[in-house]
Amino acid sequence: MKLQDHIYYVGVNDRNKVRFEGLWPLTRGMAYNAYLVVGDKVALIDTVDSRFFPRFADKVKAVIGDRPIDYLVINHMEPDHSGSIPLVRAMYPDVCLVGNKKTLQMAEGFYCQAGETLEVKEGDCLDLGGGCSLTFYMTPMVHWPETMVSYETQSATLFSGDAFGCYGALNGGVLDRDIDVEPYFPEMLRYYANIVGKYGQQVQMALKKLAPLQLRMICSTHGPVWTEQISRVVDVYNRLSLYQGEPGATLIYGTMYGNTAEMAECVAEGLVQGGLKHFTMHKLGRTDESYLLADAFKYKGLILGAPTYNNGIYPLMEQLLTDLSHRGLKNRLVGCFGSFSWASQAVKKLQEFAALPGMELVGEPVEMKQGFNPEAARACRALGETMAKRILEN
Ligand code: FEO
Repeated sequence: MKLQDHIYYVGVNDRNKVRFEGLWPLTRGMAYNAYLVVGDKVALIDTVDSRFFPRFADKVKAVIGDRPIDYLVINHMEPDHSGSIPLVRAMYPDVCLVGNKKTLQMAEGFYCQAGETLEVKEGDCLDLGGGCSLTFYMTPMVHWPETMVSYETQSATLFSGDAFGCYGALNGGVLDRDIDVEPYFPEMLRYYANIVGKYGQQVQMALKKLAPLQLRMICSTHGPVWTEQISRVVDVYNRLSLYQGEPGATLIYGTMYGNTAEMAECVAEGLVQGGLKHFTMHKLGRTDESYLLADAFKYKGLILGAPTYNNGIYPLMEQLLTDLSHRGLKNRLVGCFGSFSWASQAVKKLQEFAALPGMELVGEPVEMKQGFNPEAARACRALGETMAKRILEN
């Protein structure tokens, strides 16, 4: 598929994978995007999951026929993109593998790659002839240490690796202007929160570095190719990497026998009484954690409730707290509630989370002993109302 002069899409769709990275559920499959830049020399930008190599190879052949691939540029070594390196090498024995020092070390480690390589550094330019050239910019920890991006100057096209990508196969079209992109934006949020979220500082550094570049096209390794939506996707990445939350909340709770669930219902009533319309509710164990992380990244307010369990906190909440902490989530208003039967621990653990740097405890934490009762109901409504007002006053 021709994207513009000299640039072609040769990616594939994976509609069978159930969990990306073995962790994150896929409801609409996954696209592994790869691209050809065809000047006097031919450069392939990234490859695809090795299981899709035959289809990928057919697409490459359809563009370049019997011409060889001269350069294989590896922007990112995660195997969903690098998996076909050995197969490309076997098909084009003279291909030169282009990457930075870490890329080439990883290629050796993953695939025992011998053969020709070209090590590139920040700002190096690879002239392909025919008016095409690729300039390389290092973007470490977005989201692996070797990640880099490649910029084709003539067409102002950025090959961005995973950055600006999302879950979801591509249904018949690749360019954003040809398809309905709205379903991809929540999946960009979820992808970011699940996979990139820990590296906000590094994403900010990359955005600042790339800001001077003129951008007419962003070619990510996942999801649509961005043209008319470029400013929107850059804004999404900017806000997420600054950990800016929208005015709204997510209310996440665990429950065993329904008492903490009743508390959550009252907190929600309080949010509405306080004037907040935009919030989501999630029962732990019912919704996959990847969606909870996404909503925690999306909204300013984060209200957490759980029972005490084994003299600690309900295990699914413990996992969520760990995963939120690992991502360095900050700039959040946090509300806490929970229950216990004979020894209280859950609310204490939630308050410890709310005391992490960048978190602000809002409202009075609500702790309930044993069964749901009117006093707890009142306190939960008050917590919700206080949180709503705090979010809206921002
Ligand atoms: Fe799409 Fe980080 O690999």
